[in-house]
Amino acid sequence: MLKLLQWVIANQWLMRLLSAISGSFNPWNPTVRRNPYPSYAQLRAQPGLPRLRLFGGYVAARYAEVEHLLRNPAFSTNREAVPLLSTFRRAASDTPEFLGFLDNNLLMLDGARHRRLRGLVSKAFTPRRVEMLRSRVAAIVDNLLESLAPRAEIDIVRDLAQPLPAIVIADLLGIPSSDQAQFRHWSDELVEILDPLSGREGLDPPKRAMRALAAYFRPLLAERRGAPRDDLLSAMIAAEDAGETLSEDELIALASLILAAGHETTTNLIGNAVMLLLRHPSERKRLQDDLGLLASAVEECLRVEPPVQLTDRAVVEPTELAGTRLQRGEIVVALLASANRDPARFPDPDRFDVARGDNDHLSFGLGNHYCLGASLARLEAQVALGALLRRFPDCTGPPDPPAFKPSIVLRGPTALHVRLR
Ligand code: HEM
Repeated sequence: MLKLLQWVIANQWLMRLLSAISGSFNPWNPTVRRNPYPSYAQLRAQPGLPRLRLFGGYVAARYAEVEHLLRNPAFSTNREAVPLLSTFRRAASDTPEFLGFLDNNLLMLDGARHRRLRGLVSKAFTPRRVEMLRSRVAAIVDNLLESLAPRAEIDIVRDLAQPLPAIVIADLLGIPSSDQAQFRHWSDELVEILDPLSGREGLDPPKRAMRALAAYFRPLLAERRGAPRDDLLSAMIAAEDAGETLSEDELIALASLILAAGHETTTNLIGNAVMLLLRHPSERKRLQDDLGLLASAVEECLRVEPPVQLTDRAVVEPTELAGTRLQRGEIVVALLASANRDPARFPDPDRFDVARGDNDHLSFGLGNHYCLGASLARLEAQVALGALLRRFPDCTGPPDPPAFKPSIVLRGPTALHVRLR
């Protein structure tokens, strides 16, 4: 089944033809991937819930509907009721480490099990722990920029946006710095779970990654149990709630999730933010004249170019959304990036405004699954942008928009060449 879908996707002409005929949403269409925002506007203008090509699911594109979808218990992250996703699960059954990840992963659980795991991990991953990282993040950014200073041109993605979150996540978890490159690779393979139909290898990369991550974390966890340190792994081992602690499989799934969730997303946030500022000179000048706007500028970058464009929910009890009756087992895509540009919620939504006041974007999700790493991602982006603009106030970017990575879920430039002076 997966192979057949991959073949169909590889043959993009067929995909284009199908969506042209049906008028439904096809995120795999290369034109849509390059610039998805016009098709999001078309979806918002359609009455009811538009259909999603291929899966027979639905798409929520307006802010009010996406908000309802993320908050209402009739919609769940637990996809057991979705027939296509049980095929997905069966395809994973030859790799126990991967099944362990699916079964213990915050993003795929709901209800009491999710509350328990989230409660325990939140005891370890506290705002205080993130705040303690502030000076460390600034030092990492300074080191990276210092090493780039002699060059006339750099690739912001390769030279800053990728290494920064990789170093920070490794530091946070307590992984030796010599293993960071290896971790980046596992993280890249694991995030393909979000988008198995866009790659050529289906579920093989995330399976490989989970085999390797479980083999890596097991001895490290044993080491930390014997000799705890001031890192997130040790804090997660120690986390206790009403006598309950995290099991070995839960710890491996959570550490792997944090590793993967915190890498590519933050890389894309920094890449998108630099791209937006370089392409909007007057907004960039406003920010450079008043770096006090950094926090609101980062929120605006998150709103306008969300690193996570969409998520989904399974219908777990019959319900209605936008006048459409939905049955158990149906899937609804929450187009976060479209909700962020809904004119019913944000005045002049396509305008990039670094000082936008009311900016309740949905780029970190909402409700029970609200991003656990939001404050860390914000911190990294604010520090990186501030340092870049201070150190290289005259840097310039390419005239054309960059190419974006080939994912329908994660959005960020593959490379962004910047002249430092
Ligand atoms: C700009 C960077 C980031 C973006 C845009 C982002 C976005 C998101 C979104 C949209 C969700 C909710 C998904 C859903 O409801 O289906 C989420 C959940 C999550 N994020 Fe992030 N994230 C970012 C960075 C991070 C970082 C740095 C970490 C960890 C260090 C992290 C860890 C998590 C975890 C563990 C969850 C699952 C929470 C749960 O299900 O209870 N994220 N993220």
